[in-house]
Amino acid sequence: MADGPRLNSCVPIPKDIEQLKDVIEKAKDWALMHGVGIRNKKEFNPDALQIVPFTFFPSAFPRKEFEKAVKIQPILNELIHRVAFCHSFLEENLKDTIQVDEFTGNLYKIYETVRQEGINPTNSLGVLRSDYLLDHPDCDKIKQVEINTISTSLSAMGFVVAQLQRFILQELGHYDKLKNLPENRALEGVCGGLIEAWKLFKNPKAVILMVIEDVVYNICDQRFHEFRISELSPKTRVIRRTLTDLAQRATLDADKNLIIDNEVVAVVYYRSAYEPLQFHSQKEWDARLLAERSSAIKCPSIHYHLAGTKKVQQALARPGAVEQFFSDPEKVTAVRDVFTGLYSLDFDELGEDAVKKAIEKPERYVLKPQREGGGNNIYGEKIRDVITKIKGSRERTGWILMDRIVPPVQENIIIRASQPAARTDTVSELGIFGIIIGDSNEIIYNKQVGHMLRSKESTADEVGVSAGFGAMDSPYLY
Ligand SMILES: Nc1ncnc2c1ncn2[C@@H]1O[C@H](COP(=O)(O)OP(=O)(O)OP(=O)(O)O)[C@@H](O)[C@H]1O
Ligand SMILES: [Mg+2]
Repeated sequence: MADGPRLNSCVPIPKDIEQLKDVIEKAKDWALMHGVGIRNKKEFNPDALQIVPFTFFPSAFPRKEFEKAVKIQPILNELIHRVAFCHSFLEENLKDTIQVDEFTGNLYKIYETVRQEGINPTNSLGVLRSDYLLDHPDCDKIKQVEINTISTSLSAMGFVVAQLQRFILQELGHYDKLKNLPENRALEGVCGGLIEAWKLFKNPKAVILMVIEDVVYNICDQRFHEFRISELSPKTRVIRRTLTDLAQRATLDADKNLIIDNEVVAVVYYRSAYEPLQFHSQKEWDARLLAERSSAIKCPSIHYHLAGTKKVQQALARPGAVEQFFSDPEKVTAVRDVFTGLYSLDFDELGEDAVKKAIEKPERYVLKPQREGGGNNIYGEKIRDVITKIKGSRERTGWILMDRIVPPVQENIIIRASQPAARTDTVSELGIFGIIIGDSNEIIYNKQVGHMLRSKESTADEVGVSAGFGAMDSPYLY
């Protein structure tokens, strides 16, 4: 990947990081003792944690662009909400994709089923995260990578890593730098949204159901949410069950309440159900449908899930699409300003053009299937191979093509468990959290609640921390 321009690190990184040895050791212990942790994927042990990869110093990020991202989050929340409740938009733009992408097809079937049953959608809770990279050539403008609507994680990690880096700067005597670390209330904000949804259900005995993966690695981020909810609202209980647990034991009562293990569910909060492997059989799909039919507030509801697909993101980037949802030209401009080029691979003139461009200059693009969770996109020369393979088949309409964003590079030190600290060139990706609650008639809650930053070696393609690529970070505003 071509490197973007260079940014100065927030403090000069010493050539010989041996001199930081004491503070690195101390920082690692701080991390473990404050839950900057993850379970070991190779040797899974539910009784042990290891440190989440993190950058030693916060990464420089332009204040102006940070503030822009914060400011537009409520507009993006509103856009996703409106798209999710716009049947014609979802239908029109997903009709080809659901024929060739089985996973999105299955989601759509659930959507269609509840729609045809005339189930009045209860309030939806959106815990959204819009991700950005600073773009080439000047790297002074944020461009949206995507907006996540399901299982958006790391609001807790983002918060605690900022505290860790604050501690490190203090230990090294950089007190003057601390003022440039923005306050981050992401964890509290996401928990606040969940509690608000729980209150709307109006049954104090009902629980928040966190739907989890069979094996959870990113345990700290999840548990931090449970613990903070308990602090903020002591009577709100959170239970954890897998999709398979739901498949085996969840039922609906006569009032469509979702019941599992004798608990009435107020809010279904998915930290799973975003990728095919999490659905072992039809039974898990049935469970997702059951939850959707229930009176519980879903986070996300099936239509929010569909609104977060990459195909919908691409459709929204087409001329005139955002305008369909906002009459206020300022909102349209603000949203359009952060979009980068997105192209369909449909069998039409634009699609053919995209195929041609990607084969000619694959390094300029990222090729994406309808997947979440990281590690599925195609980069560089491989794009040419994949497109050449699929260009004659209908399968290609399940993919989208996106301009590759080339962010600026800066030096930092990445700390990973069981590896020596390494001074390296990194690039950073900002995520802004938004909470939205509403139904087809009205939006009753719409907020920007905080941020997180992830960084990776500048040579890596992706930044997912749970997926094993990136490192947690926090912004140093300049
Ligand atoms: N257009 C792009 N230009 C440069 N890098 C990109 C681009 N799109 C994606 N990436 C990189 O790949 C990562 C994963 O991409 P994306 O968010 O589209 O996939 P995902 O599977 O939905 O990931 P996540 O689990 O983080 O939601 C991004 O976080 C970013 O680092
Ligand atoms: Mg995603």
